[in-house]
Amino acid sequence: MADGKNLVGVDIGASSIKVVQLKASRKSISVVRYGYAPLPPQTIIDGHIMSSGAVTESLLKIFTDNKIQTRDVAVGVYGQSVIVRKITVPMMTPEELEEQINWEAEQHIPFDIKVMSIDYEVLRKRPEAGQMDLLLVAAKKDEINDYAAILREAKLKPLIVDINAFTIQNIFEQQMGLPQDGTIALLNVGAAVSSLNIVSHGISAFTREITNAGNAITEEIQKQCSVPYEQAEAYKCGGGPTQIVPQEVHQIITSACDGLAGEIQRSLDFYLATSGESEISKIFVSGGSAYLAPLCKSIEKRARVPVMMFDPMANLTVDTKFVNEPEMRSRAAQLVVALGLSLRTDKERRSS
Ligand SMILES: Nc1ncnc2c1ncn2[C@@H]1O[C@H](COP(=O)(O)OP(=O)(O)OP(=O)(O)O)[C@@H](O)[C@H]1O
Ligand SMILES: [Mg+2]
Repeated sequence: MADGKNLVGVDIGASSIKVVQLKASRKSISVVRYGYAPLPPQTIIDGHIMSSGAVTESLLKIFTDNKIQTRDVAVGVYGQSVIVRKITVPMMTPEELEEQINWEAEQHIPFDIKVMSIDYEVLRKRPEAGQMDLLLVAAKKDEINDYAAILREAKLKPLIVDINAFTIQNIFEQQMGLPQDGTIALLNVGAAVSSLNIVSHGISAFTREITNAGNAITEEIQKQCSVPYEQAEAYKCGGGPTQIVPQEVHQIITSACDGLAGEIQRSLDFYLATSGESEISKIFVSGGSAYLAPLCKSIEKRARVPVMMFDPMANLTVDTKFVNEPEMRSRAAQLVVALGLSLRTDKERRSS
């Protein structure tokens, strides 16, 4: 882990905000603060904050209620304003690359480069071919500025903006280690978006976002059972202790999950067809919708590889003086992005 003080990880998701602060010592990593607050529907659409007031208010409340004093935060972004591409460029020195990167990016990004913030990482050097592979990340400056402004409004100081898919890879690597041989898939199924990151030989080889996730399943129950959205959501999540869930709900969930699994499988097939790789050995699922057993079953049946839930807290200790541990662990699958962000520190050097 990098030196420095851990930033507070802030994940502004479509259904809720999650905040985590970690403290890393040589021996272990401990959760020292945690906060969660649901957001009203339509607050975030395709990663874009539609109602900044609702987000600011929630953030202020989370930080106060949970006694989070650190104001330096890392925030995650996703959606159509973020583009991730693996590209190949001729071998060059870091200085040459720094000079060339905008020109290279222009060849791969369907937006005016001037409105984009560009970052990159050298994935692999292949001197024998005179080439190297880069991971190119571009995000709209406007979008990043919007996020930063909202965080500042909530009296926070954003020091790092990261891409959700990579934050998940970071916490996975920290908790489970990334296999250096073979290929695994990290799948996060949230409320609005399902994101897929295929990691081959320890390196991200393919990412894709599918705009189909938990919300679509709730909407299906709402439609078919003719009940309000909140009721459908409660049915989906098991109904709570006093609710009787109509019999057809299970069938609706199973069939919606199978539809989503089909879309995920198309992305896996696309990767296998274009990468020349023969198999993905395991799929690790996170995000709140990972709690839907029929989803994992459907993916497993279609992909014909083991599908398991990724518990990002398996090897973390929790400071129970400030954190309600059972509550936090019961949501662990939803916390992958916030946890990944909270691994970042204030001493990291940025590549650009
Ligand atoms: N126990 C559960 N059973 C079924 N679904 C659940 C459960 N808990 C949460 N969910 C679903 O998970 C989704 C929220 O997950 P998550 O917090 O990962 O999403 P998000 O980060 O808010 O959204 P996104 O990542 O799409 O922006 C909701 O659709 C919610 O209904
Ligand atoms: Mg999310």
